[in-house]
Amino acid sequence: MRISVIGCGYLGAVHAAAMTQLGHDVVGVDIDEAKVEALAAGRAPFYEPGLSDLLTGALTTGRLRFTTDLAEIAGARVHFVCVGTPQKRGEFAADLKYVDAAFAAVLPHLSDGDLLVGKSTVPVGTAERLAVDLTGSGATLVWNPEFLREGLAVQDTLHPNRLVYGVPAGMPGENATAVLNEVYAAPLADGVPLVVTDYATAELVKVAANSFLATKISFINAMAELCEATGADVTGLAEAIGYDERIGRKFLNAGLGFGGGCLPKDIRAFMARAGELGVDQALSFLREVDSINMRRRVRMVDLAREVCNGSIVGRRIAVLGAAFKPNSDDVRDSPALSVAAQMQLQGAHVVVTDPQAIDNARLKWPDLTFAETAQDAATGADVVLLATEWEQYRELDPVQLATVVREKRILDGRNVLDPEAWRAAGWTYRALGRR
Ligand code: UGA
Repeated sequence: MRISVIGCGYLGAVHAAAMTQLGHDVVGVDIDEAKVEALAAGRAPFYEPGLSDLLTGALTTGRLRFTTDLAEIAGARVHFVCVGTPQKRGEFAADLKYVDAAFAAVLPHLSDGDLLVGKSTVPVGTAERLAVDLTGSGATLVWNPEFLREGLAVQDTLHPNRLVYGVPAGMPGENATAVLNEVYAAPLADGVPLVVTDYATAELVKVAANSFLATKISFINAMAELCEATGADVTGLAEAIGYDERIGRKFLNAGLGFGGGCLPKDIRAFMARAGELGVDQALSFLREVDSINMRRRVRMVDLAREVCNGSIVGRRIAVLGAAFKPNSDDVRDSPALSVAAQMQLQGAHVVVTDPQAIDNARLKWPDLTFAETAQDAATGADVVLLATEWEQYRELDPVQLATVVREKRILDGRNVLDPEAWRAAGWTYRALGRR
């Protein structure tokens, strides 16, 4: 199948390479020349485990190319729109300017029988609006939300845990489903569950899923607040409630909370859309989910102050991690960077390290100091804060690290270290939601 992928960011670049791997003939389009050049040379323009190999493999088949020229999508039968929908400045709502621009630009290149497939996360009602613009083009619109996790994007794209098609009613919907079934023939043959539904449900599935995940994280972080007030331990609590299969242990890791380019802006855009629809009360709990999440960052700065006997002014604080999660170089709404910046603004000398995200972090917060390694960041530190749980930080040796710091104080922002081992090595160990 000839496929085009419009927008080659975290979602589109992986999707284009994965579609080639599934046997299709793919052209990826992006307006960013540097990105296109990198992708065409087999270099991933961002850090995503396995993407470089997937790209190189896909490029050597001769069935994958990248271009900045949208006209090259002509001839493709299925066009995936994978552009971003960031939060609007100063508002909760999603900014649809990239989606609208992509659809407007694609329209003149569509042929009769083409499938236009929206993968971007959009407010419910967007597909119905965009479908009207397709009238007369002979093309059909499908909404096919994406559930990949950064850091696991390759695996999640090649082996998704479900596929969702939002299709129009009647024959156009049936035809569209048949074409998409061909595109996803390999995962479907592997037994990946498929839900075929209408536009609104498909759009809602995506934001409902992210809202649920955000709620689960904020739930355990709210419990962490209770644990802090009572001397209980949130990790033991999560373990114990997680044994109940109805609850499940996944996504119950208390700590600095959620960040990234998806969960925070998706719950806010969902609230904004509910307001427009006159059902804002239905989602008022998400406001609390957001507040709990943001409070964790404030609490971590307070904790740093507490272990420094009341003031962080002039203290050297090593922050391990800048990415919003491990195995990613994405610093969008990163809890780690947000805490680092807050502590710096409050007078601490903050040194941040990250295995992959330093360049992105420096672009965002040029005033912070950056170090290449945890060892360098921690040298002379009064406090070490583990903010993103990269494997190499989880495995740090408390005995060895004790030899370079000024004061042995460790803040475990992700509840991943062994408190006993750190305390045994002479460290003051503190974490969110733990004794
Ligand atoms: C999220 C969803 O998990 C994906 O299914 C979805 O496709 C994606 O958003 C999207 O909308 O594009 P992602 O943003 O890559 O994926 O990251 P997650 O693994 O969901 O983690 C989000 C944040 O929650 C991270 O900051 C992570 O550190 C935090 N988190 C996660 C916790 O604080 N506790 C947990 O127990 C789990």
